[in-house]
Order: sequence, then structure tokens, then C-alpha cells
Amino acid sequence: MSKIILTGDRPTGRLHLGHYVGSLRRRVELQNSGVYDKIFIMIADAQALTDNADNPEKVRQNIIEVALDYLSVGIDPSQCTIFIQSQVPELCELAFYYMNLVTVSRLQRNPTVKTEIQMRNFEASIPVGFFTYPISQASDITAFRATTVPVGVDQAPMIEQTREIVHKFNTVYGETLVTPEMKLPDNAACLRLPGTDGKAKMSKSLGNCIYLSDSAEDVRKKIMSMYTDPNHIRVEDPGQIEGNTVFTYLDAFCQPDSFEKHWPEYPNLDALKEHYQRGGLGDVKVKKFLNAILQEALEPIRQRRKEFEKDIPGVYEILRKGSLCAREVAAATLADVRRAMKIDYFDDAELIAEHDGIHTAFLQGQQIFLCLLYHFFDGSFRFFFQELCYFNYNSSLSYRYLFCI
Ligand code: TRP
Repeated sequence: MSKIILTGDRPTGRLHLGHYVGSLRRRVELQNSGVYDKIFIMIADAQALTDNADNPEKVRQNIIEVALDYLSVGIDPSQCTIFIQSQVPELCELAFYYMNLVTVSRLQRNPTVKTEIQMRNFEASIPVGFFTYPISQASDITAFRATTVPVGVDQAPMIEQTREIVHKFNTVYGETLVTPEMKLPDNAACLRLPGTDGKAKMSKSLGNCIYLSDSAEDVRKKIMSMYTDPNHIRVEDPGQIEGNTVFTYLDAFCQPDSFEKHWPEYPNLDALKEHYQRGGLGDVKVKKFLNAILQEALEPIRQRRKEFEKDIPGVYEILRKGSLCAREVAAATLADVRRAMKIDYFDDAELIAEHDGIHTAFLQGQQIFLCLLYHFFDGSFRFFFQELCYFNYNSSLSYRYLFCI
């Protein structure tokens, strides 16, 4: 079986470091691994509209931002299909059929939906589209027969729900859809990168993000004001590593050669942590080190972004071509789904022949009966009988019968 990746992001803002370590960096590695036959990367604008229905302009503006972020982290359009969700209407049709396979209570139990409902104060008035977006996400994944979905940990319940839908569909309608596997980041620090303020999640609404497109100076400022250990007041004080954002970021971004390049006094991260915990190591030094590592990772991304920004029509063209290609693939899956669900009436020659057979037999029976009736009475019936034969069925049998009497 082909190995296929599908993943994507909602275009509600520029992508940040949380996206980078949680998923983007992994996508590029998977792309370059050469293990996958096809890779689809989707800008989920239709999903973004499920909780931004009154703000289409925001979604519209961010499509190009997300596309630029993708290209600048190294997603290569010659190896991956980058496309826009709303330009593949087949996805809506799939979702419409999958809705029959999911209960309201199952959706209510989806932990991601639950938290998002709370975050958006939707409790009293959840838009139906938002409530059902896990089902639409199942269409995104299955339409491309994805075997692998590299995502951040908050998407785990979505993949679980997709697997359930696939199982149900295949049980009811026969083996048709592919069951996807989720691929989470290996490194625990990357599972959920905290915001610069130490809050659990990097999120635009909390204003605690470092964006991939931030300037070098903005990144430095954000790092310098980052949350550390509030009890580590003087340099001599022992410091705490747990919950210390700077160290979580180091866990996420340190490379094997980072110390050699930027801080050769320490052999590795463990030694640095040990010194911090012992006391005698100031936050500013550690932040400067983090800044050096982050700038090293972000600089090539910023440079590539600058190049792609010079040709915005070219980027839109990548999205247009990607969307056309994605549409073809999704249409093929939809055809399989329709066939499995027995709603492929016009493509099903057997169905037409079968019904043709039933009706021909029925009509012939009816006509023979009428002819017998005619014989039973007399010729006065003839006019009515002729009319009936002509109107009704134009069938050779009835005419043949007429001519011989
Ligand atoms: N829900 C994802 C997010 O919020 C975006 C998304 C939509 C997605 N469809 C998907 C991710 C399918 C992976 C697979 O970022």
C-alpha cells in the first residue's frame, strides 16, 4: 500500500514556533526522507471559517501567510501538494455522508472540541459547522487515503475520531477507506510548546507567540522577556528547570552541535541544566544562548520567505495547481465511496440492467393479460387497447400481438 501523508493548518494567523516544533519541522524531515509516495498539505480555510464565520477577511488574508510559512520552512512544492481546502468541494460531500456514522454524543465527548468550545465561549450557541468539524477533518484525511497524519498532540482526538469513522464506514459499506496513523513529535518538549509567558500553549490570542516571520530583533526581545523561574532572583540562587520556559525551548531546539557552536563551556544541555539547578548561572546568559540557537534555526526560514515574497503570484499559482491536483485525488475516493454506498446510479450498468429486466417482465405480463382480456370480451375493446400499447410501452411484443389479431 502507498504511504501517504496528509496534514494541514487553519489559516487564522501566521505560523509560530509551536507549529514549527509540533509539526512543520517534522513534515520537512518526512518529505526529505523519501519514504512517502505522496504528501498533501492543506490550508484548512473551510475549517477556519467554522469559528470565524463573521470574519472571512481574516481567513482570506492568512492563506498566503500560511503558504509562505510552509514554503519558507522548506516544504517543497515539487515534492508535496499544497492546496486550499475550500477548493476541493468533494470534501464536503464526503463529510455529509460521514455525518450519518457519528452520534451527537460522540462529538460532544471529543476533548479538543470540548476545550475549544470553552475557549471560544461557545457553550450556549455552538455553530453546527464548528461542532461537526471533526467529521470534516475525517473527510480531509480519508479523501487522500492518508496513511500518516503528522500533527501536534491537540489533534490526537481528531485522528482517533477519523479512525472510528473509517472503521464504521468499512463495516457498513465494505472495505473502502484507509485507516490513518498519527505521527506525534518524538520530543516531549515539542508536544506542546508553551508560550513565552509560560502559559500552557502558544496562541495568538494570548499574545505569547514567536512567529516564524518575526524579525531577528523581535525574536531577541521576546526571548529576553521570557518567563523563567520566578524564584531565581539572584544569580547564586538555585534555579528550577521544570516549568521554566527557556529550558523547555532549549529541549525543543538544541541540536547536537549547538553547544560546540554557541557555548563551548558546556558539553551538553544536561550539564547546563545541572549548573542552573545548582545556582550560579544567570537567566540572561541562558536566554542569550537560546537566542543564538533560535536565530540559527530561523534565519534560513526568514531568508527563504523573503525570496518567495518577491513572487506572490507564483505562490498563488502553486496553491492553484495543488488544489486542482488534490481535487482529482479526492474525486477518485469519492467515486469509491459512492459506489460502496450504492449511490452511483448512473455508473452502475448492472443496476440499470436489473431494473430493465424487472420492468420488461412486468410490462410483458401486463400486456399479455390485457390481450387475453381483449379476446375474452370482443373487438369493442380494440381502440382502448391500441392506445394503451402505444402510450404505455411501445413494446414490440404488444404490437406484434395486435398485428396478429
Ligand atoms: N485541525 C487542524 C488545525 O487546527 C487543521 C486540519 C484540518 C487538519 N484538517 C486536517 C490537520 C486534517 C491534519 C489533518 O490546525
